[in-house]
Amino acid sequence: MKLEASKYVSEKLGNFLPRVGMVLGSGLGFFADEAIEPVCTLDYADIPGFPVSTVEGHAGRLVCGHVGPSTVICLQGRFHYYEGYSLEEVTLPIRMMKELGVETLLLTNAAGGIRKDLEPGDLMLLTDHINCLGQNPLRGPNENRFGPRFPDMSVPYGKRLRALAHEAAAACGVTLKEGIYACMTGPSFETPAEVRALGVLGADAVGMSTVPECIVARHCGIRVGAISCITNHAAGLGAANPLSHGEVAETADRVREPFAQVLAGWAARAG
Ligand code: HPA
Repeated sequence: MKLEASKYVSEKLGNFLPRVGMVLGSGLGFFADEAIEPVCTLDYADIPGFPVSTVEGHAGRLVCGHVGPSTVICLQGRFHYYEGYSLEEVTLPIRMMKELGVETLLLTNAAGGIRKDLEPGDLMLLTDHINCLGQNPLRGPNENRFGPRFPDMSVPYGKRLRALAHEAAAACGVTLKEGIYACMTGPSFETPAEVRALGVLGADAVGMSTVPECIVARHCGIRVGAISCITNHAAGLGAANPLSHGEVAETADRVREPFAQVLAGWAARAG
């Protein structure tokens, strides 16, 4: 039994078979408009079972098309736990992508930099993550058709996709840092003490997304890669006080060109 969303989107796609899934984070939605040669664009509101994105700076559209030789299905605007959705709702689009044939998922997000060398405007490839949600999207009866009860998470972000990201970044002269991402629920930003605690735990950056999607994708055997756009120094670490969504959006906008280039190169290589 396929998800209603999958049936609907599959019908709209006809014989277009998406192999690369993408999720665009806060302020990063421009990628879908600029880098994808569209075949089919759908509003979330028209997709059965899809939640409707509420956060500022998120368009709420599914954009399907070509990036170089790759066939791509892209969420322009994601669902966040802090909006009030369950993690099942947050990750429904990932299971839909699986049912539509996606084999590779590229996730993006905006994040606060914790490690000293991470500056606003840097791009950080995820090597691992720390789930600080106190929740797991796979809690509850296991959906055996997607994957096992206790999925392995020893390699959340695969080596090959990471190598391809570095290749894509090098090809456009962009430095890609690496690090570990911690996911908090939000919507409040962290306190300085929380940021220090996350640093002690081993986190290099902090955000409010990506981890649930990665878990659900790994459960159903999708390869995952993820890049954070470091939009600000995490709380207590920078001169800019207080933190605001405006600052996040501003930095994301400032790096749109290089970020779009890296993502396009990555998506083209990942298909
Ligand atoms: N904390 C959490 N989420 C974020 C941040 C941050 O500093 N910046 C962008 N998303």
